[in-house]
Amino acid sequence: MKRVRVRLGSNSYDVHIGSGILEQTGQRLKENWLAGNLVIITNPIVARLYGDTLKQNLTGDGFRVVTLEVPDGEEQKSLAVAGRLYHELTNAYAERTTPILALGGGVIGDLTGFVAATYLRGVPLVQIPTTLLAQVDSSIGGKVAVNHGQLKNKIGAFYQPRLVISDTDTLKTLPAKELANGLAEAIKSAVIWDKEFFAYLERNLDRIKSLDARLLEETVFRSVKIKAEIVEKDEKDLGLRNILNYGHTIGHAIESASDFKMEHGEAIAIGMLAAGRISNQMGMLDQNELARLKCVIEKAGLPTETPSLDAKKLIQIMEHDKKVLQGKIRFVLPTSIGKAFITDKVRPSLIEQALVG
Ligand SMILES: NC(=O)c1ccc[n+]([C@@H]2O[C@H](COP(=O)([O-])OP(=O)(O)OC[C@H]3O[C@@H](n4cnc5c(N)ncnc54)[C@H](O)[C@@H]3O)[C@@H](O)[C@H]2O)c1
Repeated sequence: MKRVRVRLGSNSYDVHIGSGILEQTGQRLKENWLAGNLVIITNPIVARLYGDTLKQNLTGDGFRVVTLEVPDGEEQKSLAVAGRLYHELTNAYAERTTPILALGGGVIGDLTGFVAATYLRGVPLVQIPTTLLAQVDSSIGGKVAVNHGQLKNKIGAFYQPRLVISDTDTLKTLPAKELANGLAEAIKSAVIWDKEFFAYLERNLDRIKSLDARLLEETVFRSVKIKAEIVEKDEKDLGLRNILNYGHTIGHAIESASDFKMEHGEAIAIGMLAAGRISNQMGMLDQNELARLKCVIEKAGLPTETPSLDAKKLIQIMEHDKKVLQGKIRFVLPTSIGKAFITDKVRPSLIEQALVG
């Protein structure tokens, strides 16, 4: 088992990572002075797989547990669903001190986090992420949100969890495409921050994909460490934290142009490679590093070819993206593997060229 401390003053917390640690949840909650009644928010897919194990562990440790389920899917991240959950929390007599546990992927984590941040002006939140994306990325850093119509994550808050428990065994039931979505975010973290982690992924991706327990634990651990370091330096996303958007400027545009039929991780993979090409054209990321980037993305089972979408339309979408500041499209560009910076000085012709490949 591994542990990462996210150091944010009085909002600091531990992230526990390891195989089979779902069954230590009760003990971990007690260590963090959480006791009494608690509420689990999850969805039917995750409840069927892990709900009983978690509930048994918690009742065995003396907690009284209420489980609330929301259906599966991104559309559940809404104010309407949050409203229903407030109602159910009231019916369950949830109080200011009642911990709420988010058991699931990023959708459950973001929605539950939003509800925990706002119900009674904030109740203790525990993240129990069960997708690779949620373990390496969304459960850390305190961004919680719901969508507003088509606008993703428009209503939200910064609300740090009291504790994160990432049981890597839960990844064994994850569909392959969901694993690839998480790998895209792990690759992202390595490229922007940690060349040794990148080399680790280069060496080990095959065994990580076959769910080797030790390697999964290490992958989540290293990704969490990177995210924690970045969030510690810029909790409220005022500058540095933006580098976590590497691959997302072009990626979001591709996702949106595909009417969200393309997987998030696939779109981000194409975006990361395109940003790599732009950097190469601007004289930074060298040819060898660009080739290594492409190779890692391929090894992760992610695409490297831009789908046949109109490049000009993609640029238009980027211009409407939230990462535009004062009318200029902002890119995160790797200067070399392990280092990145944010710039709004990329010529549209370079973007078009990078999309073609
Ligand atoms: N807060 C942040 O910092 C942050 C960062 C990145 C992404 N996000 C958000 O995360 C969300 C995406 O998260 P996601 O990729 O985890 O998707 P998700 O939560 O929809 O989960 C993907 C699918 O896997 C299922 N699932 C979850 N755990 C499983 C398991 N162990 N075994 C089998 N199936 C399982 C889910 O029910 C769902 O069908 C988006 O809403 C995105 O906006 C938030």
